Amino acid sequence: MSSYAHLGLLVLLVIIPASTGYGGGAPNDACVDMSPHHGTVERTSPSKFSLYLTEETTQGGDILKVCVKGGTFEGILLQMRVVGDTVPVGTFNGTRGTIANDTKTMNCTADNDTVTHSKPTIKKDPTCFYWKAPNNKIPQNVHFV
Ligand SMILES: *[C@@H]1O[C@H](CO)[C@@H](O)[C@H](O)[C@H]1NC(C)=O
Ligand SMILES: *[C@@H]1O[C@H](CO)[C@@H](O)[C@H](O)[C@H]1NC(C)=O
Ligand SMILES: *[C@@H]1O[C@H](CO)[C@@H](O)[C@H](O)[C@H]1NC(C)=O
Ligand SMILES: *[C@@H]1O[C@H](CO)[C@@H](O)[C@H](O)[C@H]1NC(C)=O
Repeated sequence: MSSYAHLGLLVLLVIIPASTGYGGGAPNDACVDMSPHHGTVERTSPSKFSLYLTEETTQGGDILKVCVKGGTFEGILLQMRVVGDTVPVGTFNGTRGTIANDTKTMNCTADNDTVTHSKPTIKKDPTCFYWKAPNNKIPQNVHFV
């Protein structure tokens, strides 16, 4: 865990089993409450999954590598929010950033502010994404939900 453990971010991570029927990714109506509205959702904390963040670069807006660790999974919905806010912040860098196979970005309230899976294949442990922090907000703490 890097110093970014002390930023003011809320990390919302939902592991979505392929059996829920959302094999192609979470639907848009999962954007705000992070529930796929169907089947079983495995909330990752305090279960076996965890995230770790590493600083990728500090130039022109911080890019963090966000890694999901603790096991393989098929489906995912991941957002970063500022504590107290309900909208995601920053963007997942769609081209270079989604280094995991069979994943894609979603536009919840802004372009590429959310990542989900594109196919219900088994994802590696760890599976990592690049996230670019917003330029105008300097978060203070990270919380996991
Ligand atoms: C969002 O992701 C798409 C697909 O990877 C990419 O083409 C586009 O440039 C990204 N937009 C932003 C604002 O990051
Ligand atoms: C992703 O970030 C890299 C720098 O780390 C940048 O070169 C690239 O243009 C970015 N891609 C998108 C789609 O924003
Ligand atoms: C993505 O899949 C390709 C082809 O199977 C593989 O070579 C590559 O290592 C995979 N990349 C990641 C990040 O899992
Ligand atoms: C997200 O927004 C971008 C730019 O407005 C668009 O090109 C892209 O198709 C959108 N992605 C989705 C999944 O709607």
